[in-house]
Parts: sequence; C-alpha cells; structure tokens
Amino acid sequence: MKISVTKSDFHTLGADLLALPFSSVALKDEGENALSASGVDLQLLADFKGDAGEIVVLYGVQKGFSASRIVLLGVGEGKKIDDWRKAAVALASKAVELKCQKIAIDLSGIGSLAVTTGQSVTSLAAAFVEGSFTGSYRFDRLKSGKLEEKGREERSVEIAELVFVASSDAFEEIERGVIDGEIVGSCKKMARDLVNLPGNYLNANDIAKAAEESGKRSGYRVEVFHKKEIESLGMGGLLAVNKGSDQPPTFTVLDYTPKGAARAVVVLVGKGVTFDSGGISLKPSENMGEMKSDMSGAASVLGAVEAAARLALPLRVIGLLPATDNMPSGTAQQPGDVITTYSGITVEVGNTDAEGRLILADALTYGKEKYNPDVIVDVATLTGACIVALGYSVAALFSNNDKLAEEIFQAGEQSGEKVWRMPLWDLYSEQIKSDVADVSNTGGRGAGAVTAAKFLEKFIDGHGNWAHIDIAGPSFAPKGTGKVNGGTGFGVALLVGLLKKLSC
Ligand code: BES
Ligand code: MN
Ligand code: ZN
Repeated sequence: MKISVTKSDFHTLGADLLALPFSSVALKDEGENALSASGVDLQLLADFKGDAGEIVVLYGVQKGFSASRIVLLGVGEGKKIDDWRKAAVALASKAVELKCQKIAIDLSGIGSLAVTTGQSVTSLAAAFVEGSFTGSYRFDRLKSGKLEEKGREERSVEIAELVFVASSDAFEEIERGVIDGEIVGSCKKMARDLVNLPGNYLNANDIAKAAEESGKRSGYRVEVFHKKEIESLGMGGLLAVNKGSDQPPTFTVLDYTPKGAARAVVVLVGKGVTFDSGGISLKPSENMGEMKSDMSGAASVLGAVEAAARLALPLRVIGLLPATDNMPSGTAQQPGDVITTYSGITVEVGNTDAEGRLILADALTYGKEKYNPDVIVDVATLTGACIVALGYSVAALFSNNDKLAEEIFQAGEQSGEKVWRMPLWDLYSEQIKSDVADVSNTGGRGAGAVTAAKFLEKFIDGHGNWAHIDIAGPSFAPKGTGKVNGGTGFGVALLVGLLKKLSC
C-alpha cells in the first residue's frame, strides 16, 4: 500500500473512492452547508449521524468531483483517537469490499479535530494509517482460488494507494504521522500473518527465519539458538515442552541497538508456541485449531522490535522468542515430571498444558541475567482464565511496578489495545506450591491468570520493573466474531506505545 500526502485539490483527484470525514458534532453544526455544497441530498442527514466508523457510499455525485464514489465517513464526536482509528478500519474494509484500488481522504479538517481530541495531528494521522492497515487486512495466501465460481473472485484485492489531502499548515505533521502509522501498521500486519499461519506452515524454525528476515530488512541483529545451544545453556523449560515434538525448538534473540546513546535497555519476551495441543494433558478437540495462535506473543514482540528499529527509537530493545510446539507422544513430558529450568528452579509439571510459563521462565531469567535490563515485559497467550475474566478485547496486565503499569495502561488507551491490571498479591503463591519441587506449574481452579503470573514472577530474579501481559483473549478473533477472523496483531501497537514512552 503506497501512502502519500498531497496539497492538490480534493475534487479533481483521480481515485476510485473519495472519503469525506465528518465528526458528529461538525455534521450537526455545518452538515447542511457542507453537504449541499457537494450536491448531496440533505435528506441524508436523517440517516447519517457521523458515528465513528459509520459509512455512506454515494454514487454519481456531481459538483466537480472526479471520482465516481464519494464516501461520507463518521469519525464520532471527535474526542477519542480510537474513533479516528475505527473510522479508518471501516473505510479501508469497505474499500477492499468494493475492490477500490486508489482511495483519497480529505484531511483538510484534521486540524480542528485534533484540537477536540487533544491529540496531535501527527498521532491522528498515524492512527488513521494504522487503521487503514487493520481494515484492509485479509489472509488469503492459502486460498488457491481453484473452487471459485467464474467472475466471482473470492480472493481480495489489496488497496494499492492511499492519498491524504492536506492543508498547507497540517501537511508536515500529517506526513510524519503517515510514516509512524505505516511502520506500526505494517508490523502489525506481519504479526497477523504469522499468527494466521497454521502449524504445518509455521514451526519454531520458521519463527526464527521470520525474525532473521525482519532483522535484515530493518537493520537489527538476530541470533538464533538451536537445540544444541539450548541444551548447553540448560533451558530445561523449553526443552521439556519440546520433548513430545518431532521438530526442534528455537530460541531467537532480537537485538536492536540505537545509533546514539540508549536511554534504557528493554527486554521483551514473547511466547512462541507454534501449536498447543496441550501435550499429554491433551486439550478437547473442539476449536483446538485455534491453538495455532499460541505464538501470538512472539509475533507481537517481533513486530514491536522491528517497529522500534524502523522508528529509530533511542532505546536498546532485546526481543526473546522461545519457540516450540506442544505435542503428545511417547517422548513427551508427563504430568508429574519434575524439570529443572534455566534458573535452576525446579518445577513440578502438574499439567503439560501449562506449557507457556515453562518456556517463558527460561527466557525471563536469561533476559534478566544477560542484559541487566531496566524494564522486562513478557507477552503471552497464557491462560484461558484470562479470557473468562476479561473477554476477547482486553488483555490482562500484571506488574510489580506501579509506574510501569500506568505507562502500559496509558499506552493501551492510546493504541486501542486495552489492558486491565490484575493483582500479584503473595497470597496467590499458596496455590502453586509443590510437595516435591520448588514450584508447581498449575494452581488449581481459581484465579488461573493470576497464578500463572505469580509463577512467572519467580523467574525474574527479583527484578523490580517487570510486567506480564496475558493476551489470550485479544490476540485471536474466533470464527464468526468479526468481519475478519483470526490473528489481530494485538500487542504490537501497545508495545510500541510503551517503547515511545520509555524513549522520553
Ligand atoms: N495457550 C493456552 C491458553 C489459551 C487458551 C490461549 C485459550 C488462548 C485461548 C495455555 O497454554 C493453556 O493451555 N493454559 C491452560 C493452563 C492450565 C492447564 C493451568 C489453561 O488456561 O487452561
Ligand atoms: Mn497450553
Ligand atoms: Zn499455550
């Protein structure tokens, strides 16, 4: 998708679709004038309210427009940046539906909207671009097209070009927003592609390869530890989960070091379980296929590190991606096994389906020990209990540091990737005590998301600035829940938002 900003006259732009954004407030105040100036029947005002994401497609509007389709696009009350993003998602999604290749958006009024949202023009423009990526995303690469009816292409056509029409005073700010939004939007898209690839297309080695390609493209270092090195390092958690698999594990280290001085060293850890069958503690078969998304944390961390590099943030950002599938077999780990993790802490594996915390444990200790970071954040599709607590739109946040928690919360509000904080009180540690090992990987029925977080906390070796984000709900839209089901890329924009805050 080529994105450009122009000062040319909106009316005469050649495009398949021209979009005119309206806030609900502006529509009330000046709607009649604006619409009649464009030659639109005013009766339309009875139906179109300007709600965020509301769309009316008009055909054959005269009054000097050169495009054949005019879209009236609602951006809500003009108070929330998320409404602006929502509008872009709706518009881009519509454009794909209508197979529009080139779309132009009139942003000449963005200055006044920026005032009412309290956001900069740059962030509004960035949100719009990011939303355009989100809304136009389709995952078609595994469709052959062989069974399609003639003349009814099921495969979608990507939007080729997006043109923003800007007034002179907002031109440069919009341009900057476009660059930012393009980076976050495309990194989120990369994450979604990885999440959507099923287990037979993406194994641990493929995660490492995707990371290497990203590092080459975007100018940061990538090192991959293969099974031998993982064994010599003694990453007993990752190896235990991998025991049932025919495919070796990988542990990928992403290392973005800025040109100038780094304001902080940040370690990001992402769970990379390429398929989670549960292992010997086998999951029920219904919807088990969705467990191809159990590497969403790794995908988000990869997206965020690439974005940090492309944005040239003044931080050293290390991404750690422990990766394996979790399979049952004669060689698989068994419930009741006691394993020794990288930290030396022993774990009783009460349930082989609580595998994420085992691979994260090794990565967390490794990250703390090797990089002595200022901040550690892990992102993981860790517990079904998290979905029970917060649903499919919101991630759970756990942190031992109030300032970090607040920054992540704010990054969530601004990026639209919402998080809600849950407790880490010590009383929950009772539930993961083991009779035979230092700790158990299961904590019984209650507070499953919390006991998982308490487990992870034991592997950060007393680090005082750590956060765990459980994205089990928002990482993947199950069938039938949205226009586009599957991987969402949740976490990329959230982490980038946090990294930007840590850069100041
Ligand atoms: N990957 C799952 C968690 C999950 C469930 C993510 C549904 C997304 C959607 C994780 O490995 C898991 O199986 N967790 C268990 C832990 C339990 C055995 C202690 C769970 O939540 O049931
Ligand atoms: Mn599991
Ligand atoms: Zn899992």
